[in-house]
Amino acid sequence: MTRLTAVAGLVNLATGTEIIAPFGRIRVHERPAPPGIDVSVPNVARMYDFYLGGKDNYAADRAAADEVLRVAPQAPALARENRAFLDRAVRFLAGEAGLRQFVDIGAGLPTQGNVHEVAQSVAPDARVAYIDNDPMVLAHGRALLASTPGTVTLAGDLRAVDDLLADPALREVIDLDRPVGVLLISVLHCLDDDERPHETVAALRDALPSGSHLAISHITAGERAEVAQEGARVYRRASTGMTLRSADSIGRFFDGLDVLDPGIVPLAAWRPAVPPRADLPTWFLCGVGRKR
Ligand SMILES: C[S@@+](CC[C@H](N)C(=O)[O-])C[C@H]1O[C@@H](n2cnc3c(N)ncnc32)[C@H](O)[C@@H]1O
Repeated sequence: MTRLTAVAGLVNLATGTEIIAPFGRIRVHERPAPPGIDVSVPNVARMYDFYLGGKDNYAADRAAADEVLRVAPQAPALARENRAFLDRAVRFLAGEAGLRQFVDIGAGLPTQGNVHEVAQSVAPDARVAYIDNDPMVLAHGRALLASTPGTVTLAGDLRAVDDLLADPALREVIDLDRPVGVLLISVLHCLDDDERPHETVAALRDALPSGSHLAISHITAGERAEVAQEGARVYRRASTGMTLRSADSIGRFFDGLDVLDPGIVPLAAWRPAVPPRADLPTWFLCGVGRKR
């Protein structure tokens, strides 16, 4: 039996499911599904985990991700750029902006550089509430963070902001009378227009005290609209859709906030540590806004 450690975990080349990983075709052994988790439907959190080289994904997730990769082989690079934006934004918020509490909505499966790790590396007393509506994300988050001080993992839905902020378990960790860093990273495009994402973000903004910040990243059609549409088509049969929004529409999420430099820009252009690669498509926009 040949085993190698690869992006999808332990790989058996003799048996198992053939997949196309970000670096080529491999076969994987399926891990048993966690109790109560439906792994037959492609799941947005697990597809993203696959792009990031994680092992918390299943055949249906990989098959769907494989379809996306055929039209958009840059998906793993974009996922990494998205995480890198998250890292830079949280470092800025915990450092220069002086925030000590974060609410990460649509937190996703734990990966490298989780928000509390980044924030606490800058400010050891930083507190983080991770919120997601996916049971597998919650199970993994709770397992990882059970003994991590200053963090909590909570079930919550971005479409029900009032409930989410009223949760007593959130209030134990987050003081809503003091400035909060709210992270909406790669989650707003999971909501379609009928779910009123702009009203949702406005309600969130209104509920936060002055000095709070919102960091957002969001997919857009960019200059390769047909490719982005093809990728979004795959998500129609996944756990959530993927709504491509224009730069104008993404800009409206920042209404009522002071958008910090350099504005609403492609992921790699937000305060990069090194000059960004020129060849990355601008399929994601991001920014950080401050409430006066
Ligand atoms: C693409 S992942 C992004 C994970 C992480 N924020 C990041 O950017 O690395 C999207 C996450 O949003 C979650 N999500 C989707 N719709 C949601 C909703 N209505 N409320 C809360 N979480 C949601 C999914 O379960 C998934 O974990």
